[in-house]
Amino acid sequence: MFTFHLIDENNAHTILSWQYEPPYDLYNYLKAEANLLQHILHPQSTFYSIVDKNNELVAYCSFGEDGQVTGGDYRDQALDIGMGIRPDLTGRGKGAEYANVVLEFADSLFKPKVFRVTIAAFNKRAIRVWQKLGFEHQQSFERETDGM
Ligand SMILES: CC(C)(COP(=O)(O)OP(=O)(O)OC[C@H]1O[C@@H](n2cnc3c(N)ncnc32)[C@H](O)[C@@H]1OP(=O)(O)O)[C@@H](O)C(=O)NCCC(=O)NCCS
Repeated sequence: MFTFHLIDENNAHTILSWQYEPPYDLYNYLKAEANLLQHILHPQSTFYSIVDKNNELVAYCSFGEDGQVTGGDYRDQALDIGMGIRPDLTGRGKGAEYANVVLEFADSLFKPKVFRVTIAAFNKRAIRVWQKLGFEHQQSFERETDGM
């Protein structure tokens, strides 16, 4: 049902323009992050766009360092996952379905022994999705820049 593509410039622009409603606006990319587009499009970046059977862009995902948050302790070996569903498709009870296809894709690419996600503590919706897929809480940290 879903296809993954290494992200291209067009999709990168679209994803950077996505606006989540509060309190999830934390996940809006800031226009001030000037290097972000170059970073996402860099050959070593691991950002993928996810399209549905109608070829519509519905989500994106990223792996490794692109799934980490500054301040976290990432010394343990694991594949980090970042993802975002298109804002208008969130909150419809499909989160675990999307996250599961991302896991399957990540497994086929990297065959990691362990997966890891880093989620803002207030984001109960995301925490619920990953717990449903069997993820367990391991550690918490406070981000220095904003105390989040
Ligand atoms: C995080 C994300 C993948 C979740 O997907 P989603 O489709 O929006 O989530 P769902 O609608 O499936 O909701 C997931 C669960 O959270 C529950 N939920 C929703 N809001 C909640 C809240 N405020 N508190 C507690 N639970 C909540 C839902 O009831 C559902 O539980 P259920 O399946 O037991 O009924 C998606 O919202 C997203 O991409 N967000 C932007 C990026 C982001 O948050 N990234 C975080 C790291 S992955």
